[in-house]
Amino acid sequence: MSNEAEHLHDEDLAQASRQLATIPAAGAHASEGSVERARPIPRISIQVFCEMPTTAEAVQVAAEDRRLSKTHVSVHMGGAPAAVAHYQESPTPNLIVIECSAGRDQLLAELDALADSCDAGTKVIVIGHVNEVILYRELLKRGVSEYLIAPIAPLDLMESISNLYNDPAADPVGNVYAFIGAKGGVGSSTICHNASWILSEALSSDLVIADLDLAFGTTGLDFNQDPVQGIAEALSSPERLDEVLLDRLLTKCSEHLSIFAAPVLLERDYDLQVDACETVIDVVRQNVPYVALDLPHLWTAWSKRLLLQADEVVITAVPDLANLRNAKNIIDLLKQSRKNDRLPHLVLNMTKMPKRPEITAKDFEQALDIKVLAEIEFDAETFGQASNNGQMIEELNPKAKAAPILRDIAMTVAHRQEVRAEKKSALGFLEKLKLKRA
Ligand SMILES: Nc1ncnc2c1ncn2[C@@H]1O[C@H](COP(=O)(O)OP(=O)(O)OP(=O)(O)O)[C@@H](O)[C@H]1O
Ligand SMILES: [Mg+2]
Repeated sequence: MSNEAEHLHDEDLAQASRQLATIPAAGAHASEGSVERARPIPRISIQVFCEMPTTAEAVQVAAEDRRLSKTHVSVHMGGAPAAVAHYQESPTPNLIVIECSAGRDQLLAELDALADSCDAGTKVIVIGHVNEVILYRELLKRGVSEYLIAPIAPLDLMESISNLYNDPAADPVGNVYAFIGAKGGVGSSTICHNASWILSEALSSDLVIADLDLAFGTTGLDFNQDPVQGIAEALSSPERLDEVLLDRLLTKCSEHLSIFAAPVLLERDYDLQVDACETVIDVVRQNVPYVALDLPHLWTAWSKRLLLQADEVVITAVPDLANLRNAKNIIDLLKQSRKNDRLPHLVLNMTKMPKRPEITAKDFEQALDIKVLAEIEFDAETFGQASNNGQMIEELNPKAKAAPILRDIAMTVAHRQEVRAEKKSALGFLEKLKLKRA
């Protein structure tokens, strides 16, 4: 044993030994245990970079399994160098699986290069060819979630992914972004829908919009859908909601975007319970990486709770005094009760309306002590046409002035721009995960 190996008594190593003991030996086939242990995996995106054709085959078999039927899996060859090149251009998915047949030092160097272009929140599984406890410890230190030894069996890969995403002690998969207007009719739902659509496309990641404006919500209209069932069914019996029912109640609008639509029927009453709302959103976030809450302009126990519980909040205001006052009250409350969270984002909408006296962005910033994230001009033609067609602004006209602004809002809320700028800072996966939680 080497000197280093003599110091192997810490917790990581105990875990490492257990892990290595459970790693199947060469020519691996799935053990009975992994058949039982692999559970259905949420709607995450997974990108795999293999070196060996046999690994690619095993991954392909796993990708076609029923347990991964909701995930988006893409398999590439070229191992870590191909991944590094790929992520210099593209955002990283929820999970990257990298095969690396090199020895310890090269493997760690390749992973460090990958960490430079890895966005916060992305998990990494490494498939290696070296069965070594010290390497395993180094990988854990770098925030790698799992180390598997090649050759891998499809069920063992599935089990590892399942453990990562179905562990009740782990953070839920989904990030929740709440959108609310400082007054009614200010364009909060429009911004929520456009930003959500852009995000799901740009990140190729699944996103669900939950329309909590049960009586008057426009999510169905905006995406040109007329669903029969939706969020009201989930809220009326939240204890029944699981991944199967969720699947039935969601309406798919594009490859990555689904809506949890509002019933918009006035003969029903919608006195929502705080606990029911929380349970429903929790089930969604356990299954989907991004959840956008389209909140109505209401102040009730449940809307307040959802706002306070969200990972990010976007407040939309038009530039008048009532909006300024209401935005200030909401921001003050959020600042007061969420001391460890990012500040809410403020979007000024429908600015530069002809002849209307307006409060400027600068005045908003001074009064609220917060930077305005974006300003969207009043553009009746583009927005009117998009809502009449049931289209998003970028779909209708990518050259519209609002299109890049909406993209900016989406990326900032999802922390994507900041992380891109930090790519050169050579943070490990672990630091980035910490950064995300901060
Ligand atoms: N920048 C803009 N210029 C012109 N029209 C806009 C702009 N932004 C939104 N609109 C339009 O304003 C209307 C109201 O928008 P939306 O329904 O998104 O507001 P809201 O804040 O969600 O309202 P509610 O209080 O009913 O939830 C829509 O018809 C939308 O197309
Ligand atoms: Mg709305």
